[in-house]
Amino acid sequence: MSYPKVTLKKESIVNNVKIFKKLTSENGIDVLYGVTKVFCANPDIAQLYIEGGVDGLADSRIQNLKKLQDFDVDKVLLRLPQHSEVDEVVRYADISLNSELSTLEKLNEAAQKAGCKHRVILMADLGDLREGFFKEEEFYEAVEKVLAMDALILEGVGVNLTCYGAVIPKPHILQRLKDYKDGVKERFDYDLKIVSGGNSSSVYLLGKEKLPGVNNLRLGESLVRGIETAYGEQVEGTTSKAWVLHAQIIELKEKPSVPTEETGMDAFGKKPTFTDRGIRKRALIAIGKQDVGNDCIFPVDEDIIVLGGSSDHTILDVTDSKKDYKVGDIVDFYLDYGGILSTNTSEYVDLELI
Ligand SMILES: Cc1ncc(COP(=O)(O)O)c(C=O)c1O
Repeated sequence: MSYPKVTLKKESIVNNVKIFKKLTSENGIDVLYGVTKVFCANPDIAQLYIEGGVDGLADSRIQNLKKLQDFDVDKVLLRLPQHSEVDEVVRYADISLNSELSTLEKLNEAAQKAGCKHRVILMADLGDLREGFFKEEEFYEAVEKVLAMDALILEGVGVNLTCYGAVIPKPHILQRLKDYKDGVKERFDYDLKIVSGGNSSSVYLLGKEKLPGVNNLRLGESLVRGIETAYGEQVEGTTSKAWVLHAQIIELKEKPSVPTEETGMDAFGKKPTFTDRGIRKRALIAIGKQDVGNDCIFPVDEDIIVLGGSSDHTILDVTDSKKDYKVGDIVDFYLDYGGILSTNTSEYVDLELI
């Protein structure tokens, strides 16, 4: 058995996805995209999304979409395409999110060259200030241009919220997407198929308030942790404990809780602070910030304190634990979203589906 490793309970992910599929389809979301970037599009986990009922697989990176080619559902590129990757985008993504005319032109050329059609969703920036057309005239100008491009199909309009600006989706914000859809119909007599109303932060509106006109969500964190991310509430029937990190103790000693000599910068160039708890039993485990942030891991044994760490080590205070830990023992942790993302990305952390 090698460590560190993450175990994922397959049943829990399928169950989470099923609950979100039911919740979304009861609220007018006909098309649910499962976001795979958090587990680097591991096809075995994507398969669990499919079993749970997602209608498409979405990822921010084209390298990840390449891994998903065998799945017979739409593959969606979430991050705006780079000019340098348009040939791969039209090859590996059925749909991409866009907000730049120059990129749309390059995608059109790439699709012409490849002899295929590529579908695009135009993003509107409704205040979160990451991607998207901020000015209405620019949005409609892009619509007009895309409709004239013979290798692109204008699939829909979308928004991303609660990522950069932490803006919470509200019905009046999502209404603006519906207005764009209606505006496209009015000005160009063209029906947009998709109104993509955001990510896991839009989930809290389901069942309570309407998501006006929205028929698609792109969900990552909700599916892997069962939470809505506007307020961080667990959705009934789901679990956030499907993923568990296991790391091995490589040193266990009693030491002071404050450095014994003058201090400067830590391994990451920061000036650390310490709480003096006196002499404590400290366990060093073989995983570090290169694999996961110290603040992304939550000991299953609640009497353990995560003190901090460096690139390859994490230091735990196990003094208050009821368990008598030994060198060689395995310590388990639940993970937040950042923890799932980084442990899946680290080539030093194994993954086991159970
Ligand atoms: C454009 C876009 N849509 C959807 C998502 C999924 O977000 P979340 O994990 O909050 O559901 C992301 C980020 O992963 C994204 O960048």
